[in-house]
Amino acid sequence: MPLSRRQVLTQIAALSTLPALPRVASAANPRRLTLAPATQQIAPATYPATDLWCVNGSMPGETLRLKQGARLIAEVENRLPQATSLHWHGIRIENAMDGVPGVTQDPIQLNETFTYDFALPDAGSYWYHSHAQSVEQVERGLQGVLIVEEPDTPDVDQDLPLVIDDLRVTSDAAVDAEFNAPHDLSHAGRMGNVLLCNGKMVADHPVKSGDRLRLRLINSANARIFTLGLQGLEGWVMAYDGMPLATPEPLPDQLVLAPAQRIDLFVDVTAAAGEEAFLVQFERDGGYELARFPVSAGTRTRRATPDALPPNPDFPIDLKSARSVDLITEGGAMAWLQSASLKGEELSGEELAKLGQFWSFNGSAGRPIEPLVTARLGETIRIRMVNDTQFPHAMHLHGMHFAEVLPDGTLGPLRDTLLMLRGETREIAFQAHNPGDWLFHCHMLSHHAAGMGTWVRVT
Ligand code: C2O
Ligand code: CU
Repeated sequence: MPLSRRQVLTQIAALSTLPALPRVASAANPRRLTLAPATQQIAPATYPATDLWCVNGSMPGETLRLKQGARLIAEVENRLPQATSLHWHGIRIENAMDGVPGVTQDPIQLNETFTYDFALPDAGSYWYHSHAQSVEQVERGLQGVLIVEEPDTPDVDQDLPLVIDDLRVTSDAAVDAEFNAPHDLSHAGRMGNVLLCNGKMVADHPVKSGDRLRLRLINSANARIFTLGLQGLEGWVMAYDGMPLATPEPLPDQLVLAPAQRIDLFVDVTAAAGEEAFLVQFERDGGYELARFPVSAGTRTRRATPDALPPNPDFPIDLKSARSVDLITEGGAMAWLQSASLKGEELSGEELAKLGQFWSFNGSAGRPIEPLVTARLGETIRIRMVNDTQFPHAMHLHGMHFAEVLPDGTLGPLRDTLLMLRGETREIAFQAHNPGDWLFHCHMLSHHAAGMGTWVRVT
């Protein structure tokens, strides 16, 4: 039943004064997440193992699975040579738990432990990653899956998170340690030279013919936009960035997954026993296998179209009363900045380049002193994003999901990260329902490091 305006406002008032959910649920069971160096065989066995920075010993780190409405209590211990933090990407989180050093917390220093403690209000596929020197730390491996389960388990035979990544390695499979190459910062970002699925160059998942799989595709790459396809698997898109679609969409031939985006699929294994099904990345020169699904005989008969996943709490977007702001993106190679302000000081493009800053939002490189917009709690904000650069950008808002305002004035699906191609103007809108200071940045991590970050304040 849709809520009346009055009910919505009451709910917002309640949200701002009360903790959304009881703090008891998992208090007795905090998760210990240790961030430390570890080695992992990502390349074929003829290559040496790769030194990574891991969460509980692997990349991706330990998969966290909790029920919708539970609290996650994670004691994060830093055993790395750098200060760090963890950000819980896509979670409508309490601001102090958002994991952004310098904004919501101090960085976690070597041998220190920081306890994240927050409610999980929305079911869906999320992920966590370092938000400190992220070009280096996420690339080295500080990333993992956070699954928030629906109250009732959907009717699938397997639930498989597939973390799609790329990594730039040297010829002996070591992580290339030149993280801030000016070329990467000013062009498309740091691209890897190997493609990974769940931390391996090819992941194998045995399945049975006729089985229904839930695939949770998560792009954890620094900058690569994946164009994915499936062979021997047919089905539906169920959710984007954790948020269920009201009606499942038939699976298209190609799925575009920008950095930090997620797609939940339900697919049925249509390949016969003895065959293999595949998840493929399309490149100009053909397709690369990311995951292989060897098929054995099954007993399932073909099932009907699945019901939509249950909706998460709704924070209606009211375009009529919305306030609109512009975000003009400039800079990068072939459209170099003439000048921009950096922490309030006006600098020339050359001076900025020397500091590794190549991009600007509304004339400001790096996180500006003032927010892009200060929103009243419950207000709808529209952001018109103009990409006046020669590169695509994956725009991510912390703390709240948004919808794209489509050219015909209707709203697209809820997302937390939107890909805008070069030269495009795209518009998003969201209800500012979560109080705090929230980053809004490009998730091509080299771009964020090189200037593409701003923030939104909700009071
Ligand atoms: Cu996935 Cu600012 O983060
Ligand atoms: Cu970008």
